[in-house]
Amino acid sequence: MEKRLALITGGTSGIGLAAAEALAGTCELALAYANNHEKAEEAAALLKDKGSTVKIFPRNLDGYASAGDLYTTVVSEFGRQPEILVNSAGRIKDGMFFQTDFSFHEQLLREHLLVTMALCHLSLKSMYGKRYGRIVNLSSISGFYAKRGQVNYAAAKSGIIGFTRTLALEVAHRGITANVVAPGLIRTPMTAGIVNYLEKTSSRETGKHIPAGFIGEPEDVGPLVAFLCSDQARYITGAVIPVDGGRSLGDTGI
Ligand SMILES: NC(=O)c1ccc[n+]([C@@H]2O[C@H](COP(=O)([O-])OP(=O)(O)OC[C@H]3O[C@@H](n4cnc5c(N)ncnc54)[C@H](OP(=O)(O)O)[C@@H]3O)[C@@H](O)[C@H]2O)c1
Repeated sequence: MEKRLALITGGTSGIGLAAAEALAGTCELALAYANNHEKAEEAAALLKDKGSTVKIFPRNLDGYASAGDLYTTVVSEFGRQPEILVNSAGRIKDGMFFQTDFSFHEQLLREHLLVTMALCHLSLKSMYGKRYGRIVNLSSISGFYAKRGQVNYAAAKSGIIGFTRTLALEVAHRGITANVVAPGLIRTPMTAGIVNYLEKTSSRETGKHIPAGFIGEPEDVGPLVAFLCSDQARYITGAVIPVDGGRSLGDTGI
């Protein structure tokens, strides 16, 4: 059987790369990234060693036009349309809401929410035709828990949850699933600052925030994403799955 084609945004780093590693061997991989070419080349070499065709696509994804350009290029390079879409690209732009220019917030919403929606929109026509599709969108526990300075991120990540669950309902009858993975703190380039801070303080400080008592690794998330993209996950749709060492359990501390 022909390997499925997976388009993974942010597939060259952190959680996206761990998902690509877990899919390697069983899928062909189209990995989109922003501008870290060296890292993307390294990721592609690593994944090719696992037996996959891998192509990398540098794109500043910030809305429908850039998402459309990426999608068209992927289709032309592979000669077919992806059956699997993982939206993992994104960066954090923290700032107190009223003290930061609105364009600051607008850009984050474009990069996380609108690009996710755009790539789902672009991918679904072919998935509908094939009566098969797997979509996994990365949200965050910040999508349902508040943190000062993260209004834009919270809006984007809770938007991704509402969007994905509603989409799941609309497309379920065509063999297409759409799920959300919502990580807590995972050690990646995005979180280097907070991870350094926690490691320099004490393990007690980490345990205060994360019941499991340790910081998650991308490998704690990647295999789950890959499972949701597999044929075995056909009955799981519209799920929102936290991967956070218990952080979202809401320990009241008393
Ligand atoms: N790490 C965590 O603790 C955590 C927790 C909750 C949710 N998440 C979510 O998980 C996802 C992955 O995060 P991560 O921690 O794995 O991040 P990461 O290691 O920093 O990787 C981000 C990836 O996205 C790409 N990217 C960023 N902005 C882009 C843009 N505008 N256009 C195209 N590509 C772009 C980056 O490309 P370059 O390398 O070229 O810049 C990189 O490949 C994000 O959606 C994040 O919000 C992460």
